[in-house]
Amino acid sequence: MWRPPGTLGACALLVGALCFSPPVQAQDTVNVLHWWTSASERKAADYLADRLQDEGVTWQDAAIPGGAGVGAMKVLKSRVLLGKAPDASQLIGPAISEWADLGLLLELDNVARRGNWNDKLFPTVNSLIRLRGHVVAAPLGIHRINTLFYNQGLFTKLGLAPPHTWADFDHAAEAFSRIGVTPLAQSTEPWQIATLFETLLLSETGPAFYRDLLVRRNANSWFDPRVSRALERLRKLKRWMPQQLSERPWQDEASDLAHGKAAMWIMGDWGKGELQAQGLTPGDQFGCIAVPGTADAHLYSIDTFVMFTGDYGNQAAQEKLALMVASPQVQAGYNRIKGSVPVRRDVDPSTLDPCARQSWMAFARGAAVQAPSLVHRMATDEALKDAIVSLIRRYFMDDHIPTSELQRRIASVVRALSQEGNSYDSQDTGR
Ligand code: BGC
Repeated sequence: MWRPPGTLGACALLVGALCFSPPVQAQDTVNVLHWWTSASERKAADYLADRLQDEGVTWQDAAIPGGAGVGAMKVLKSRVLLGKAPDASQLIGPAISEWADLGLLLELDNVARRGNWNDKLFPTVNSLIRLRGHVVAAPLGIHRINTLFYNQGLFTKLGLAPPHTWADFDHAAEAFSRIGVTPLAQSTEPWQIATLFETLLLSETGPAFYRDLLVRRNANSWFDPRVSRALERLRKLKRWMPQQLSERPWQDEASDLAHGKAAMWIMGDWGKGELQAQGLTPGDQFGCIAVPGTADAHLYSIDTFVMFTGDYGNQAAQEKLALMVASPQVQAGYNRIKGSVPVRRDVDPSTLDPCARQSWMAFARGAAVQAPSLVHRMATDEALKDAIVSLIRRYFMDDHIPTSELQRRIASVVRALSQEGNSYDSQDTGR
């Protein structure tokens, strides 16, 4: 439901409680902003819309195209500034707390109590959706970013095993390139290059050092030789990518893998959803393993919905949506389509496909193995993310930039954008 300008932000920001009015009449439509526009994402959103309709509430769709939500976040900001906030929006990572701090988000404590979220959700999910003890977001699914997809038919044809080390990877890549198959699908979209890079960074450094770089924002750590190795691997992998790299949407790479034009693809496991939407079955026509060197780690992005307060007139419908998305049935149905895994601990892993099982079980091992995705908004604020993504892209596109120079540039950006208290480490902030 769109509202006239000024009713929301001004009240919340300027006079706080004085503006609260008792719930106005309940409505049965929720306007939902998200960036799910690929075939599988669309199916997943439609699945949620259908389940919501079962509850008597109509999902009014506001889908903004663009992988990783690059466009959606801009649209969301301008809608909020114009006083036309959606009822619900995909908003993920530390941004949840920032927006909640501004008083823009509906508190969902009653919903969380009814759904017993405290007990049922993974601790990392629970802390992500809470600010100062209040629940301010509803969780949908956990994506694993350090996923390597491979075309099973091609691997069988050449008698190759999926690569668990970089040496195995190079060996397989060499073999595919000899038969004219692109070893590694890739696009030059900035977020896609940076998504690949963050998996390489994790591969070289492990979750603890990764957090030091991106969550604790230790600028000096960026000079570490492990960072140089990750950057150099990013460039070296170019030899296995298509000759003519272009800014293709990620769904096109899924097609290349599905049709045997590419043998491997490193992408968050929304890629699995898309391969399924193209008729492929995980563990059959394609497989997923962790990116070499990251089997013991889970580079995660957690999809969440926030509800905008508005005039509180739509609270009942918004709460229905929030309660529904985290329910066991919807978690199972939605995540199967989307490629992610349930945010709940009470899942029987034998009911999951092999890719989802690996992801869910790795995540269930707890904080020590978990690393928050930079590109998919789990590690830092937008400003630092955008700055690092653009530096990584330039380095990837221009082989003349020395690796040490890039490290120096990232370290200065990290230093410049990190004031005290700007870290998102829960141990640092006590969140
Ligand atoms: C989101 C996923 C989405 C992907 C591709 C990620 O940031 O978490 O839900 O499928 O971007 O757009």
